Amino acid sequence: MSDMTKARYVAGPGGKIEGELTVPGDKSISHRALMFGGIAEGDTEITGFLAGEDCLATLRALQSLGVRIERPEEEHVFVHGVGPDGLRPAAAALDMGNAGTAIRLFMGLLAPQRFNSTLIGDESLMRRPMERVAGPLRMMGANIQTHDGKPPVEIHASPGMRAIEYTLPVASAQVKSAILLAGLQSFGRTHVTEPAPSRDHTERMLASFGVEVLREGAKVAIEGGQTLRGTHVRVPGDFSSAAFFIVAGCLAAENGLLLRNVGVNPTRTGLIEMLRQMGADIRVHPQATADANGEPIADIEVRKSRLRGIKVPESLVPLSIDEFPVFFVAAACAEGETLVRGALELRVKESDRLAAMAQGLTALGVENQLLADGLWIRGTDRFGGGAIDSHGDHRIAMSFAIASLKARAPIEILDVANVATSFPGFVTLARKAGLQIVAS
Ligand code: S3P
Repeated sequence: MSDMTKARYVAGPGGKIEGELTVPGDKSISHRALMFGGIAEGDTEITGFLAGEDCLATLRALQSLGVRIERPEEEHVFVHGVGPDGLRPAAAALDMGNAGTAIRLFMGLLAPQRFNSTLIGDESLMRRPMERVAGPLRMMGANIQTHDGKPPVEIHASPGMRAIEYTLPVASAQVKSAILLAGLQSFGRTHVTEPAPSRDHTERMLASFGVEVLREGAKVAIEGGQTLRGTHVRVPGDFSSAAFFIVAGCLAAENGLLLRNVGVNPTRTGLIEMLRQMGADIRVHPQATADANGEPIADIEVRKSRLRGIKVPESLVPLSIDEFPVFFVAAACAEGETLVRGALELRVKESDRLAAMAQGLTALGVENQLLADGLWIRGTDRFGGGAIDSHGDHRIAMSFAIASLKARAPIEILDVANVATSFPGFVTLARKAGLQIVAS
């Protein structure tokens, strides 16, 4: 596609946020439900599945590996598990699209198999670092090649891998999960220690598939050779999608906005803490969670409030890693200065999110300074409009749509097709909430 024909949004200035919304299912949980269902014994039913491009890449890859999957409705999936030794070689390279979670978790899943696999992705994924996963897997006996540390990832059959004790250099749920998935198919007990807690959906979901995962402080351990048993996974709303509307509510919900059925796993909700420190009025109403695979769920109520800039505690960074783009928009609308440090990981997401946000905020006239591992922003009560390059990054595109609530002129957001990777129906829901946004 040429630049002229790429999808774009135009978001008109102002708009009032109100009502009740339900966001689509959680991306991290949907990927895992498919993969774990695929290698389980018996069938797995997934309800509330995220029918976004990232999870559909995982679904198609599993089909190529011989897993039968039915999808009677967009968000309702049956995975007919093939059991621990049932995956079969794919006829061609497995295309992970834009999905970092898919490629990294598949590395862990496929490394111990008896067949070779090649993993590729779109332009953005082909630039992302894979040695953080390949390195520890090699220590377990895997035979994996990357190219300059990036995809294509070539995996050569390595049955008979061995457990390791590994300390992650950075907090990363993707790396942790890949090692645990390889550990599950290796000899011995694999231990992974994290420098700070990262999302723990893998640990919670493995338990609901009947696998014993031991947790001791910062250490997670798994014994190789355990068999998963198919189950019913009820996927809650994605907190990372709700995040756009939580910030929108802080900026413009005079009468409040209610977000229903959102996953509020504490390893995901750092944004609430950061916004509360800025003065936001956010109320979390927990739901009964007995049947939600160990994942806490809540309704979240948010009201317009006066935000003040803060220095973000570094301990909150891994707990809100995907929410920084929209958090930076909140900071741009706050009184005073906001400083984020210790967020180097943002440079290796779907885009360099520090640089992309700094560039976009500058285009709107928001004073900011790009730091090696963070961003400094001086908030303002109204900024201008302008054209924003999302760099093909779904979260950058949606964040600048939210910024239109405080803009004086329309914001045109370019290269937005990848919003479909995580948030199908974003524009419809945003308009329902009160944003003046159109796609073209
Ligand atoms: C994810 C983990 C995070 C996050 C990504 C989803 C997951 O990545 O940014 O969107 O599902 O495990 P890292 O683990 O690399 O920080």
